[in-house]
Amino acid sequence: MNEVLILEIKAQLYDNLEKNGIVILPPMDVNDSINLLKSTGLAATVTMLDPWYNRGTGGVRDDYIDFILNILNNVKDITTHLYLWGFPEIVAQFVDKIPAPLAFSTWLTWYYKNNPSVIRGWRSSQQTCLHLSTPSGKLYPEKFFNDTQRERYQDKKMRFIPGPPSVIEESLLVGFIGKKEQTAHPAQKHFKVYGKILKMTTKRGELTFDPMCGSGTTGEVCQALGMKAILSDMSEEYTQICEKRLGLKRLDCPALRQLIPTSPITPLPTVQIVIPKQNADDVIQMQLNW
Ligand SMILES: C[S@@+](CC[C@H](N)C(=O)[O-])C[C@H]1O[C@@H](n2cnc3c(N)ncnc32)[C@H](O)[C@@H]1O
Repeated sequence: MNEVLILEIKAQLYDNLEKNGIVILPPMDVNDSINLLKSTGLAATVTMLDPWYNRGTGGVRDDYIDFILNILNNVKDITTHLYLWGFPEIVAQFVDKIPAPLAFSTWLTWYYKNNPSVIRGWRSSQQTCLHLSTPSGKLYPEKFFNDTQRERYQDKKMRFIPGPPSVIEESLLVGFIGKKEQTAHPAQKHFKVYGKILKMTTKRGELTFDPMCGSGTTGEVCQALGMKAILSDMSEEYTQICEKRLGLKRLDCPALRQLIPTSPITPLPTVQIVIPKQNADDVIQMQLNW
């Protein structure tokens, strides 16, 4: 890669992260954004990997396993934690293939009971999130204490440290409820779901990287919790949704345009953009409830 261009991008990236806390990159492929982070010397505490699930929206690709494994291999040395999302039967195929230094940590389930049955079979009511972690990955279960637990912990009277459950119960947003939170993205994750898992692994000021960020849920959670984030998605349309939702423009850097030409715009389902901004009261309420 061209050293001069990289230095210029690095300066702008660090500057924007410092100033805004969140950086939205121009549309690019997941591996391009990973390579960009690598070449600018940035490492993330958490990488959120929420690809299409190889079923339904986003289509089906025959090389799905290799596609995901290639991403894991590319990102494994610049992240301490990684969350990989998908349907259980799809994500299960990665459990014994995780590349070191990442290792399997926890099988998390997002259970949503509001999803109506659309097939003549078992009703899908959950998604899986594999939590992968390197040996240096820290967890912060104390962030989930109630007042009594916090007091006992401070008085060193706690015999064991309870953490949050590995089953997260929140409604499915898209198409069903959550109108206040909904953007036009067809697979938007719930703010509270991302909030819980990011709180467990990230401290204020630390960096989360989401190279398939869709509508920017990771960015909104990081904004609310005082964490930093670098977001990117291959779609121009979703990058625009992200900008609107977070009230931020994408990184405008001529050197970056020269280095990584924008990915072709993929045709996407068109839905009316609703109210993308999280209500500040809800955010505060959620923080208090966690
Ligand atoms: C399940 S959605 C992510 C939803 C997101 N977590 C949210 O809460 O809005 C998957 C995203 O991956 C993006 N994507 C798919 N293939 C990609 C690739 N090769 N590089 C970058 N982004 C990609 C899609 O455009 C889509 O927005």
